[in-house]
Amino acid sequence: MPNSPLILSGKEVSLAVKSDLKNRILELKEKGIAPGLTAVLVGEDPASQVYVRSKERQSAKLGFNSNVLRLDKGTSQAELLDVVKQLNDDPSVHGILVQLPLPKHIDSQLIIESIDPAKDVDGFHPVSVGKLVLDLDGFVSCTPAGILEIMKFYKIETAGKHVVVVGRSNIVGKPMANLMIQKKDLGNATVTLVHTRTPDMGLHTRQADILIAAAGVPEFITADMVRDGAVVIDVGINRVEDDSTEKGYRLVGDVDFSAVSKKCAAITPVPGGVGPMTIAMLLSNTVKSAENSLN
Ligand code: GUN
Repeated sequence: MPNSPLILSGKEVSLAVKSDLKNRILELKEKGIAPGLTAVLVGEDPASQVYVRSKERQSAKLGFNSNVLRLDKGTSQAELLDVVKQLNDDPSVHGILVQLPLPKHIDSQLIIESIDPAKDVDGFHPVSVGKLVLDLDGFVSCTPAGILEIMKFYKIETAGKHVVVVGRSNIVGKPMANLMIQKKDLGNATVTLVHTRTPDMGLHTRQADILIAAAGVPEFITADMVRDGAVVIDVGINRVEDDSTEKGYRLVGDVDFSAVSKKCAAITPVPGGVGPMTIAMLLSNTVKSAENSLN
């Protein structure tokens, strides 16, 4: 019997999340507030341009006061700090997002730390990260927060399960591992975090009830690294050359989908899996920030 895993559609979950936001946005509107999100894009990285356009379009569609500041790639660090300061001081802006990666002459960490933590809807500021680690209410990085929503939607239990996270990035791996160990229903997991310096990674990934792949390497997770019946969450969005397509590339995840889907119980596709959740959670964090501004 060929295995047909449950496909975890982030596309569908993201629509549900955005639909839930609509009522909260209406309530804010009655109080004279439109959630304000400003994205700052420095330079012309093609993938970043696509993401920022999508953030702009989706937030405008929900009635946000949505802006994108497109700055020249030669913008200095001092100029960018000044832009962030102005946004920090602007009460109509509830969320500030500086799109990464930034050009090499700019210290990304310094820029992240210049954002008012109350407007840190990306959840990258040390205050936000600290709150996550301490189980305090704050902004959680959008991709891991989106994975939690997928788990909630599909009733994937994590308590008592072994979750293996592949990748130790500040944006995904570290916050994901922290979410999974929280003393909450969607948490209470035993977590292993593996990374580029882990010898025999498969030894660990094969133990996973839930495998979260955030390695940033196309089709890195092969079938032999996955245990039968595992739940597989693929965070990767990699462009690989493909001359047979109109654009000259196609998107693949960090998981070898065709092989892994033959043995797992559930899996997120690429595209249409984790990807759409990231923007949905950014919108959710911005609505939360606008609500917080009332208190
Ligand atoms: N670059 C890749 N992902 C992200 C993200 O979630 N936020 C920002 N600001 N930049 C990114």
